[in-house]
Amino acid sequence: MRILIGVTACIAAYKAAELVRAFQKAGHGVRVCMTENAQSFVGLSTFRGLCQGHTKVSMFEDDDPIPHIHQAEWADALVIAPCTADVAAKMACGIADDLLTSTVLACTCPIFVAPAMNLHMYENPATQENLRTLQERGVHVISPDSGYLACGDVGPGKLPDPDDIAELVLGHMTAEGPLSGKRVLITSGPTVEPIDAVRYVSNHSSGKMGAAIAKAAADAGASVTVVSGPVSLRYDERAQVMDVRTAQEMLDACKGAFADADVAICAAAVADMRPENASEKKLKKGRDDELLSCIRMVKNPDILASLGAAKRPDQIVVGFAAETDDVLENARKKLQEKACDMIVANDVSKDVFGSDEDAVTLITSSGCETLPRMSKADIAKQLMKAILDLQKNKPGR
Ligand code: C5P
Repeated sequence: MRILIGVTACIAAYKAAELVRAFQKAGHGVRVCMTENAQSFVGLSTFRGLCQGHTKVSMFEDDDPIPHIHQAEWADALVIAPCTADVAAKMACGIADDLLTSTVLACTCPIFVAPAMNLHMYENPATQENLRTLQERGVHVISPDSGYLACGDVGPGKLPDPDDIAELVLGHMTAEGPLSGKRVLITSGPTVEPIDAVRYVSNHSSGKMGAAIAKAAADAGASVTVVSGPVSLRYDERAQVMDVRTAQEMLDACKGAFADADVAICAAAVADMRPENASEKKLKKGRDDELLSCIRMVKNPDILASLGAAKRPDQIVVGFAAETDDVLENARKKLQEKACDMIVANDVSKDVFGSDEDAVTLITSSGCETLPRMSKADIAKQLMKAILDLQKNKPGR
């Protein structure tokens, strides 16, 4: 998920740095937008350092003529923590006189505010009314903790623990996510088909696409199961990962998980063939040259096709088509032959394997959408949107 943190001029502004870390530790992308005055409490460089430079203060600090629109479009959630009485009041009135408040107006994503201030400021009827107004408009207001405040007063106004804020925000995002209550099964990575105890046949696959899909599905609120061949990356910690090696093992794992799944996305680079007889011992160079130079291959099961054939009317099955020639034509054929609801076609004649980016076309029976080259994370998000569209035409379970 992409989280934009708004930081305002409050003593607790330093805790926003811990909030950045809490979201990052949970695997989310974070950017920061500070108010001018927040810089009197915590330095711009702190956030720039934590967010690889992605921290802005002013509408006019760089070449981007519309930074508020770009920030708003980027964010899946805007979290203003700490939020001063002043910024809450501006938000309630729709004032947009700096980058943060302009971004608030441009945001269509969920907005969270964590008010933190002196207790009398917090309890002031004007502040309370503003927070109520925000709440009525759908802004999530995170109640402050009670305790010993910086001014010496004791009462409500303390910024809650950053880990608790992060947990609350992520919990909300997941529970309200468009795929909440849905189960998504993903195949990912390569399969390896043994020749002997040390040699194998396999395909190029880093698992990055599968990992991006797992994260996007979990961000959208789904319960995610990943059936993965050997990869060196880690999947999102919210996903249940089943490690397999061969295509047959991948099929067995998928068959078990598919009955409960609402959506299956086959992103694995499954080996089409496997050596008919894998030797348990290492074949010796010299002695076994004849065996090694002529390995008889047999067809592997097609996992995507079996899921397509087994799918109920309420289930969605999505496949990938990595092609070097006639990409769209071959992908359309695959859509029919493997009884899928969607094929994600990509041209692998260019630099794709192990890359963080790709250019794909989403093909369904009703048309196709070519996406510009973008990160695999963004492709995964677009894929979730397309799956939600497909779901609208599916009967309930
Ligand atoms: O037929 P082709 O291998 O090009 O199809 C690619 C799609 O089929 C991918 O979604 C891949 O995960 C899936 N597939 C599979 N089992 C195979 C071969 C491919 O699930 N044995």
